Amino acid sequence: MTGATATAKRGIDDIQVGGRRVLVRVDFNVPMDGERIVDDRRIQAAVPTIQALRDRGGRVVVVTHFGRPKGKEVESLRVAPLAARLGELLGIEVPVAADSGGEASRALADSLCHGDVCMLENIRFDPDEEANGERLVGRLALLADLFVNDAFGAAHRAHASTEGIAHRLPAVAGRLMQRELEMLGSVLVSPQRPLVAIVGGAKISSKLGVVRSLLSRVDTLWVGGAMACTFYRALGEETGTSLVEPDQVDTAVSLLEEARTNGADLRLPVDMVVVAEPRAGAESEAVAWKAIPPDRMAVDVGPDTVRQIAESCAGAGTVVWNGPLGIYEIDDFAVGTRAVAEALAASGATSIVGGGDLAAALDQLGLADRITHVSTGGGATLEFLEGRTLPGVAALLDRDS
Ligand code: 3PG
Ligand code: MG
Repeated sequence: MTGATATAKRGIDDIQVGGRRVLVRVDFNVPMDGERIVDDRRIQAAVPTIQALRDRGGRVVVVTHFGRPKGKEVESLRVAPLAARLGELLGIEVPVAADSGGEASRALADSLCHGDVCMLENIRFDPDEEANGERLVGRLALLADLFVNDAFGAAHRAHASTEGIAHRLPAVAGRLMQRELEMLGSVLVSPQRPLVAIVGGAKISSKLGVVRSLLSRVDTLWVGGAMACTFYRALGEETGTSLVEPDQVDTAVSLLEEARTNGADLRLPVDMVVVAEPRAGAESEAVAWKAIPPDRMAVDVGPDTVRQIAESCAGAGTVVWNGPLGIYEIDDFAVGTRAVAEALAASGATSIVGGGDLAAALDQLGLADRITHVSTGGGATLEFLEGRTLPGVAALLDRDS
């Protein structure tokens, strides 16, 4: 589904919930360190939907995937810690079924009283999930009367619990799903202009679709991160020991070409912070983009670039940003990302940030709250901004149906 119809999906306010069993697909695929949840934003983001369903007397059966167990039970990928965190946030007990859609799930779902919440075991333990198999779809359909999809982060997957089930039960969007579609959709359809995009990250290969799509829509597109070096190569410049994708240089050439023919304002960093080795405490200097020494590696955008991007943000109506501008995991090289985030937070622009890495970085920097919308999607956000149809969204009921 593209932005044009993004908000045309029915939501939980359009259905009768009281006393009914509601299957809620969430994306609780969160980063873990052993049993510890490193970043629970995805769990927090689903709470408003679940709470609203409880308040209206729904009996809520939550389902998520977690990691990539590939159709097998994997001990370390059980959902118990996720259910525990959800229970903490809701202030109730959230029991977990012993299976992902079978007998145990049915017994637990049937035992729920109005306002109760339970969770199924990791749905990807069942090979039918990723295969979108009829057997699992049928089992899930027996668990509930209604389906609510709040898993924007998994909406690019046509799986049993994201897509198949939506054809078997009345299916509507949760609040998080609607907010994502509305905010990301606003980038694609009638954005407040000027519309500025910032695309960072290490690899062009993973951002190609989004750069192409955004180039035709935005007023200015900034490229940051190591992928800028592949563009420098495309312009015939040396990039020292910087990360470059040699097999993408031709692609970069064609993107520059495309931008030129269409009069698109594609901007590359004018300076870069370079080091001999990418480690904390390494001696660094900022150099002009044409002057990266042969034995140096670009690890962050330089101060002149930050100033220019900040100016773009200050004058923008909407800014959409995907991917960090440097090796932000190392504090010394997060300077550019942090400075641009601060400029964006301070600007009057509607700010929309997507992608797991950058969202986590902004959280780490304590700036996430000052951004208009931080997307919970990774791959889903990219595919949406590419203008592609997300199967998990397409399958939901249209408002005018
Ligand atoms: C994500 O983390 O991007 C989503 O949860 C999708 O996970 P997947 O890439 O394993 O399908
Ligand atoms: Mg992923």
